[in-house]
Amino acid sequence: MFILAIESSCDDTAAAIYVPESNTVLANVISSQNDVHALYGGIVPELASRCHIEAVWPVVESALKKAEVQLNDIALICATQGPGLVGSLLVGFTFAKALAMVRDVPCVGVDHMSGHLLSCQLEPDAPEYPYTALIVSGGNTSLYSVHSPTSYSQIGRTRDDAAGEAFDKVAKLLEMGYPGGPVISNSAEKGNPEAINFPRAWLSEDSLDFSFSGLKTSVMNHVNTLRQQQKHLELDNICASFQEAVVDVLVKKTIRAAQINGHNRVALGGGVASNKRLRTALRQACTAHGIQLYVPKPIYCTDNAAMIAYAGYQHFLAGQRVQPDDDAYSRSPLH
Ligand code: KG4
Repeated sequence: MFILAIESSCDDTAAAIYVPESNTVLANVISSQNDVHALYGGIVPELASRCHIEAVWPVVESALKKAEVQLNDIALICATQGPGLVGSLLVGFTFAKALAMVRDVPCVGVDHMSGHLLSCQLEPDAPEYPYTALIVSGGNTSLYSVHSPTSYSQIGRTRDDAAGEAFDKVAKLLEMGYPGGPVISNSAEKGNPEAINFPRAWLSEDSLDFSFSGLKTSVMNHVNTLRQQQKHLELDNICASFQEAVVDVLVKKTIRAAQINGHNRVALGGGVASNKRLRTALRQACTAHGIQLYVPKPIYCTDNAAMIAYAGYQHFLAGQRVQPDDDAYSRSPLH
């Protein structure tokens, strides 16, 4: 069976062709809008929707071509239904519903978060259920207990900024460009993570929630003070110390979540999972606590349609189908 999946929840238009029987991704095409939004230092929702409209059909065609599959061969279409920017979601979701109707094949609406939670299942060394998952991206920073392919509960979430959003905002403040994660982590590699003692928001004891707005403000105050005093900004040290503060909280809360859940398996997902320091620190902490860590390839960590195909197929097996008048949603019901 060939599955076509479409993802358009934020600023990437993505399409994948997936064969569930062999758990094989034949094509995983992503069209990035980074150049469009870089001018503004963050995502402009109206521009994102327009770019999706231009990209959706070429991206689907490119995926079909890469997989050497015809549209006639597609037996199931899956598309991200939410959460995300509604204008962006509507492009991919409506396209998928229309294509499924025309081709007379079933269509499944997929929760973007379920895609991230299951992306590790695309790898040959996939975790058994249940496991604890940390999803950390530009729009989300949440901890989940993943009970089965279709059952998950949120056990922690950010109360303000997502971790990736904090990376993006700090990079904007430091005039380092967009997206902030890769530029900050590159700079951080040359800096001293202990140079500046930025605050960690632990919140209440045993809380699995996150908060990154105080850290962002602390970086802003540090930078503004130095700028007012016309002192040199040691960018590498600022980036390394900021990154360390983010990673420290993410790692300790994830280990705590796994302990509370009684899980000895942890999965990581979302765009910030590409962060080398996070991967290393989480791996070390997991090893020290006898926990097996599962980190998908970077291409399955960022927004992609392969994970939507995987999650969509699981929900298809559970009987889920989209109706023509089903709508996209901006907030995830997965909590
Ligand atoms: O999952 P994703 O592609 O899209 C969203 O849902 O946002 O994640 C993008 C986010 C951006 O905030 C970006 O700055 C961050 O992931 N990111 C990183 C790194 N690479 C991307 N953050 C920290 N370190 C990285 N190496």
